[in-house]
Amino acid sequence: MPKQTALTPELQTYWSEVANTFFWKKKWESLQTGDFNDVDFKWFNGARLNITENCLDRHLEKRRNKKAIIFEPNNPNEAASFLTFGELHLSVCRFANLLKKKGIKKGDVVCFYMGMTPELMIGLLACARIGAIHTVVFGGFSPQSLRGRLDDSKAKLIVTHDGAYRGDKVTPLKSMVDEAVIDLTTLETIIVVKRTNNPIEMKAGRDFDYAELIKDCDLYCPAQEMEAEDPLFILYTSGSTGKPKGLLHTIAGYMVHVGKSFKDVFQIKENDIFWCTADIGWITGHSYLTYGPLLNGTTTVMFEGIPNYPTPARFWEVIEKHKISILYTAPTAIRSLEKFGPEIPESFPMKSLRVLGSVGEPINEEAWQWYHKHVGKNQCPIVDTWWQTETGGIMISPLAGITKLKPAHATLPLKGVEPILVDDKGNIINELVATGNLCIKTPWPSLARTIYGDHERFIQTYFSTYKGLYFTGDGAKRDEDGYFRITGRVDDVINVSGHRIGTAEVEEAINENPHVTESAVVGMPHPIKGQGIYAFVTCNDHLDNTEELEKAIRDTVTKIIGPIAKPDAIQIVEGLPKTRSGKIMRRILRKIVENDLDNIGDTSTLLNPDCVDKIIKGKKN
Ligand code: WTA
Repeated sequence: MPKQTALTPELQTYWSEVANTFFWKKKWESLQTGDFNDVDFKWFNGARLNITENCLDRHLEKRRNKKAIIFEPNNPNEAASFLTFGELHLSVCRFANLLKKKGIKKGDVVCFYMGMTPELMIGLLACARIGAIHTVVFGGFSPQSLRGRLDDSKAKLIVTHDGAYRGDKVTPLKSMVDEAVIDLTTLETIIVVKRTNNPIEMKAGRDFDYAELIKDCDLYCPAQEMEAEDPLFILYTSGSTGKPKGLLHTIAGYMVHVGKSFKDVFQIKENDIFWCTADIGWITGHSYLTYGPLLNGTTTVMFEGIPNYPTPARFWEVIEKHKISILYTAPTAIRSLEKFGPEIPESFPMKSLRVLGSVGEPINEEAWQWYHKHVGKNQCPIVDTWWQTETGGIMISPLAGITKLKPAHATLPLKGVEPILVDDKGNIINELVATGNLCIKTPWPSLARTIYGDHERFIQTYFSTYKGLYFTGDGAKRDEDGYFRITGRVDDVINVSGHRIGTAEVEEAINENPHVTESAVVGMPHPIKGQGIYAFVTCNDHLDNTEELEKAIRDTVTKIIGPIAKPDAIQIVEGLPKTRSGKIMRRILRKIVENDLDNIGDTSTLLNPDCVDKIIKGKKN
């Protein structure tokens, strides 16, 4: 029997109208089928398309000479550059031909481990042009993390830089790749885009210089006709268990929701200059630096550097220089600039700015006000956009200039998105004013379709906690206007500077240290990062010098995961609070680091109640 749609007739009409604004080689046979019970949902099945024709080719008639990408280098003394839609089209075709020459075919996985230069964006689109699947690994991850992702995705080719600039540092990406791929048989080819000219080793037959190869590649490459549900990319993210999950997104649904949400949330105009400060290694960089803007023919700014290099005025200088009209950034960046005082942004009029956006973590009210007043000069609406790697695109957000704002509230769902709150027992909360676990009731087009290679884990992680619902892992409050305020993760995921880190992953890394018996990691409030990482560790021997051990633990975590997962505080303890069945009570540890001692609850039933007082006494900071 053919599967039924989970959508109301109204939503069916809505999504087909939205989809009709895109370019299809062949229209769909069924708009949507499947639901959160069977976890086999499909959108636009039977349709054929290529997303790059929607990002590039269809704009050529009217926007050939319009800027598609503005590239602002790390060093402000290096000239900015740009590519028009016409030039970007040619560059993508050329890169696509390069991939083909190196044996990449439809369905192959290509990994990118790069700094933020235009070749990265061109590379992703080149994959999409020929039907290859891209997977970007953030340059801040260690070789060991990269290896795990290469191994899991079975990528055949990786594109990297000799080195990447980040402030006054150079990250030696190529040598990190060399380390990651030792004895990895699935990876065949390494393409190196020269950027920093630091010394690198090139292995004959495996490693190739991008500049050498690209010059012989043709400037036209036909767009591979793809099925709606063919994969577009895999992006790894942390979950509450150890191994990162490769979320798989498929072409048509992702395109439709990302394109439409970009247009609606930011209320895009033809002359907008849109700047998303996220790295392409994260979902925000995929959806709203790359695909969202290009699908709408919008000029997108790509920034190689960091907010405070060479000075904390850099963001504001870039806004003035390129006449940015929309800035989309993370609360952590705002808070890190806030500490230098309002005088700095106040000395820049930033008259071009029209809309401000926030993403990646809850924005506290103070940072919201600062952003609104000193950056937006009380003139620009702030869109606080809630969404996830899994959701592909924005889910809950004000529409710029339309939705009445409330500081620190993501406000209302976008059309076609049906969020609900559920209590811990799984009952849907019908009262308007409520606090609960945030779930989504019905499918939307850009929801990830699976965890690459592990559909069972996909079902378990997202669709089993509350039967028939997608569980986000976030807690939320709903107020009398129906506005949502996201309160943060309710699972074992820590959000450090907007980056998701699984506590289990960090614990596994810490436990690699031979002195460590056991560890428990929780999030702690952090004035700039939002959350920091607090690690409680028990040792198997008495150590006089705990400083050395702390350093060794930080080094191990950096080596295994990367510097972003380095604990901010490490407390060596005699014992961790455990239930009688031996389960570590992280909830108690969380209350301790949050200084919420009144709510620790009854500890008398613990296996080792004495340890709690000792931990409180030894608490760091
Ligand atoms: C958090 C980033 C509050 C949330 C797009 C979510 C937010 C996780 C917001 C996803 C927001 C994202 N307000 N919290 N506006 N946006 N989050 O996968 O906890 O890197 O589950 O996607 O970030 O992080 P991810």
